[in-house]
Amino acid sequence: MGGPIVIDGKGLGDVIDEELKTWVGGVVGGGGRAPGLSVVLVGNDPASEVYVRNKVRRTKAVGMESKEYRLPDTTTQEELLGLLDDLNGDPGVDGILVQLPLPEGMDSEVVINAIDPAKDVDGFHLLNVGMLGTGTGVPLLPCTPNGCMVMLKRTLASLGRKLEGSRAVVVGRSNIVGKPMFNLLLREGATVTVAHSKTKDIESLCREADILVAAVGRPEMVRGDWVKEGAVVIDVGINRIEAEGGKTRLVGDVHYEEAYAKAAAVTPVPGGVGPMTIGMLLVNTVRSYAGREGVECRLSFL
Ligand code: GUN
Repeated sequence: MGGPIVIDGKGLGDVIDEELKTWVGGVVGGGGRAPGLSVVLVGNDPASEVYVRNKVRRTKAVGMESKEYRLPDTTTQEELLGLLDDLNGDPGVDGILVQLPLPEGMDSEVVINAIDPAKDVDGFHLLNVGMLGTGTGVPLLPCTPNGCMVMLKRTLASLGRKLEGSRAVVVGRSNIVGKPMFNLLLREGATVTVAHSKTKDIESLCREADILVAAVGRPEMVRGDWVKEGAVVIDVGINRIEAEGGKTRLVGDVHYEEAYAKAAAVTPVPGGVGPMTIGMLLVNTVRSYAGREGVECRLSFL
């Protein structure tokens, strides 16, 4: 007997980039403009710097137009809102992303909701959140949960299983991952429970899950005895912990080796969910472009 499927987010991310590159190449080769993504970073949070650098790199790698706005942490909210106004009105900009967290004193809700919802490639605008929650229209979907869904659907297909009718438990109730993950699983017909820090007997609850999604930001919180035999485990966590020899290493919210021994499929950290997030950001930008330009964009992996 072999081990479980190790879900290759890095490999799938590469497939997504290749397909987008071909699509963008076709559009540009036919005389069209390239899709454009504008990324706004306020202040100099080191983790945000890394995320933004990776987003810009992959945007350019698929042939899209990438613009970076780096604003000092002395920027006022009015100045930021002024920039967003300009980007909203710029016909060459299909996607706008404001990297979070914003410096203290700025109201993220006000800032995010100032982005044109049709250009909100993070899917954080209240209109997109509301459309997803109510099943109205065609929202732009938040990138990390959407990346989890793409991996989940492919994995279940290869196992000959269905999302519809399955039992899913999402550990974590954040606006960025937990809540949208709940809505995405629900709309595919799963029976979904959201567990969180106040949930009683969380272990037993998780043990009922055919699909277990961990998004809490607590290193290796989900142990092997929380995992049902044959479950599909999606680990959204990326935590840096102390390792031997004064070094650090990255671990997820799931104890990988223990989950590996029980699951039918599991995402590694790193190389699981992480690379899918930027992939979905590029997909959202292309979708926004396609809507604006009135062109069709069919992507095989969605
Ligand atoms: N900071 C951490 N995650 C995210 C994300 O998905 N989008 C943005 N804009 N900022 C983040």
